[in-house]
Amino acid sequence: MASCGVASRRKCEELIVAGRVKVNGNKVTELGFKVSKRDDIEVDGKLLQKEELVYLVMYKPTGYLTAVSDKLGRRLVMDLLPKELLKTHRLFPVGRLDYDTSGVLLITNDGELSYRLTRSSKEIEKVYQVRVDGILTQDAVNQLMRGVLLDGKMTKRAKVDIISLDRKNNSSLISLTITEGRNRQVRRMCEAIGFPVKKLKRTSFGGVNLDGLAMGETRVLKPHEIKVLYSL
Ligand code: URA
Repeated sequence: MASCGVASRRKCEELIVAGRVKVNGNKVTELGFKVSKRDDIEVDGKLLQKEELVYLVMYKPTGYLTAVSDKLGRRLVMDLLPKELLKTHRLFPVGRLDYDTSGVLLITNDGELSYRLTRSSKEIEKVYQVRVDGILTQDAVNQLMRGVLLDGKMTKRAKVDIISLDRKNNSSLISLTITEGRNRQVRRMCEAIGFPVKKLKRTSFGGVNLDGLAMGETRVLKPHEIKVLYSL
């Protein structure tokens, strides 16, 4: 169901448990029930159309919400996609970037891939370019690398490279690679060691980067890139 673009894998599981799913006319409430492409699947009485799978990478600008809708009417990353594509495909962002964060954002209608890339047990490398307030010390770098206590739990080991130290403006630019996806993780890690984030950009997600993309642009992933993401 998730790979047909019904919803995220978690949402699909909720639909099944709620008894809203039928396979060949019979209600199925068992998670993990195996179906083949020939089976007819209904959700709330509606037969599923198998949707062509779409895989995109967007250079998300700041000032856009990573969501498919917003009660407050803020601009959405989905607003940057062709309207025609949105009419025919139930696309959604893979994970989240903060409103004020720019950079690599995968967008797809493949719930299975999205689940594989965002479940917490998966260590997918995400690389961030981070500008922080202050001149980063070696001790601060070591703390980021070893882990920082957030909500009572240490963050996993991270890679840190100092790109430049701007003594005139009292700020530092670093590359930080993490393998988790905790809420506002990079901002909270830097804040926790006394270096608040001024600017945050994700430059890579699972090896997919921003090459060839201007801010706000999106491109279709190449077959080998999709293969790599599935292999992670
Ligand atoms: N960490 C953050 O703090 N914000 C993001 O948008 C992504 C990672």
